[in-house]
Amino acid sequence: MILGVDYYPEHWPMRMMDEDIKRIVGLGANTVRIGEFAWHMMEKEEGKYDFSFFDGVIEKLKTHGLKVIFGTPTATFPAWLSKKHPDILAMDITGKRHAFGGRRQYCYNAPVYRQKTREIVTALLKHYENEPAIIAWQIDNELGHEGSDQCFCPTCESSFQAFLMHKYHVIENLNEAYGTIFWGQTYNDFSEIPMPTATITCHNPTLLLDWARFRSESINTYAALQVEIVEQFKQAHQSVTHNLFGGFFDRAYDQNILAEKLDVVSYDNYPVWGGLEAPLSPAHIAMTLDYIRGLKQKNFWIVEELMGAQGHTVIGYLPRPNQGKLWAMQAMARGCEALLFFRWRGMTRGAEQFCQGILDADNQENDKFREVASFFREVKENESVFYEPIKAEVAILYDYDNRWSWAAQPQSHAFNFTDEFVRLYEGFHRLNVMTDVLSVEKDFSPYKIIVLPVMQVVSESLLERLDAFAANGGTVIFGFRSGIKDKDNNLNLGINKTHDFCGIEITNYESLGHGIQVELLEVPEKVSIWRDLITPKNAKALYHYKDTYYTAYAAATVKHHHNGKVYYLGGGFEQALILELTKRVCKEQGLICIDTPEGVESIKRGDHIIVVNHNTFEVQINPIY
Ligand code: GLA
Ligand code: ZN
Repeated sequence: MILGVDYYPEHWPMRMMDEDIKRIVGLGANTVRIGEFAWHMMEKEEGKYDFSFFDGVIEKLKTHGLKVIFGTPTATFPAWLSKKHPDILAMDITGKRHAFGGRRQYCYNAPVYRQKTREIVTALLKHYENEPAIIAWQIDNELGHEGSDQCFCPTCESSFQAFLMHKYHVIENLNEAYGTIFWGQTYNDFSEIPMPTATITCHNPTLLLDWARFRSESINTYAALQVEIVEQFKQAHQSVTHNLFGGFFDRAYDQNILAEKLDVVSYDNYPVWGGLEAPLSPAHIAMTLDYIRGLKQKNFWIVEELMGAQGHTVIGYLPRPNQGKLWAMQAMARGCEALLFFRWRGMTRGAEQFCQGILDADNQENDKFREVASFFREVKENESVFYEPIKAEVAILYDYDNRWSWAAQPQSHAFNFTDEFVRLYEGFHRLNVMTDVLSVEKDFSPYKIIVLPVMQVVSESLLERLDAFAANGGTVIFGFRSGIKDKDNNLNLGINKTHDFCGIEITNYESLGHGIQVELLEVPEKVSIWRDLITPKNAKALYHYKDTYYTAYAAATVKHHHNGKVYYLGGGFEQALILELTKRVCKEQGLICIDTPEGVESIKRGDHIIVVNHNTFEVQINPIY
């Protein structure tokens, strides 16, 4: 099993390397990741490649039996490149070019950047073509992260117009899909179509969705050119991977496209980062891990596991003793089968002085070192458990078109997509019912329960698949606003087919802003964020609203659909109610729910149970299974 640390030998005096490597081995590591920000080390002047530094590093690593994951160095580029070609620098929404400095500040569509990427990656892969110690190539680093999914430069403008021409062929098709008759926005030519930079009021929702699709394609085609080169030189024992970041729903980047090209998906697991005063909830962290596993529907790697407080200019919550190990174990339990901690030693210079590593600036062995060593020991002692299959009978679905539709029009000041996604995920997590988190494009027919949080964009084909799934005995659970829009991000005209499938009519709705909640008649739990005013047709009301004028309307419904059931949850229900509903649907489908104390999750791996206690205190649990 690949276990190790992220190591940046170029950050330290050469005289520290031998001792570093010995100590990394002493930690219990067998692998290090190097190189992903070291372009200038490899090409100090244009076209003059020099890999001698990393040749020396790899030789030393090999003598100590360490394997290498090598990162292509394109997340940052040499200053001479942007000095010579300033048009590789991305532009912000105001049309201002990013300055050199920071990282990820290149434009994915810049022809020069794509060419220089081809050259450096080809030179790197060629140079190490026969290096057996390299077990994997990581392309770039966290593509799309830190706002780098957006660029408003002239190249992106013309590329966007070409993207639209390729999609719509003739301008009339675009005008029709966009409804540009509204506000007199009809275009005569694709060259008239703007990027969604600042305007008065708001842009056309379909333009905004197409822009997000274009940004995603820009990143994925850039990534694909690197994968193609790696595949050309990759040896049989090597894997090609890329490390994704945790805020995936907040970027215009559908990682499913890249994941298809990778041998294995890698993830950077930071349950807390920057100025956050508290970590993400255990359910939220678990959801991200299930999402990463769902990209290829197979186990994944973590190439950056947090060990210590992290942040560039602001730091926040300090992970408690063994909490970094706990999060690492939670990841192993949910499908991680290779894990490297970020980073061997925290850097003393540059922008990440406050991104702690295992070792701090004093370079002394410390509690974090011992925490990592104990993690490595325990994982090695139980290695076979982490190769046991993960079986889920519940799938929670997302669709990036739907996500970007919400990004265009959040409709409630209090709306947060990820929060609404976790809201429906959390019930299953609390009951320890393993779930997969999948793109709607994946085949969900084998599951017993399908959950669609705030799926406002529902295509005809998705609805047909859901209909067949429910007819076949499955349970479908829709969140609020489901099915109101088509794939052009326009409201459905006429009878709403999704509502018809749910056996309901929604005659009106209300956005519930920050702090606004409405009560229900039958239960004490309240509704926030949004409420749909539902009239059951051939569905049964589960709860009604309590406030004046609206007691006749249902807040949630259920309908029998042939051998299955279709639930519609018309608002942001409190967790206690979500839990009751989750218990109900799991019982109906005969799924085993495991009762653990709050903050304790249990994950079944073959004949083993991994129990993760997120509490700061010991808990007693009943025998499981
Ligand atoms: C991200 C990046 C790393 C580093 C860490 C710091 O995950 O991939 O290069 O910046 O955060 O926490
Ligand atoms: Zn650009």
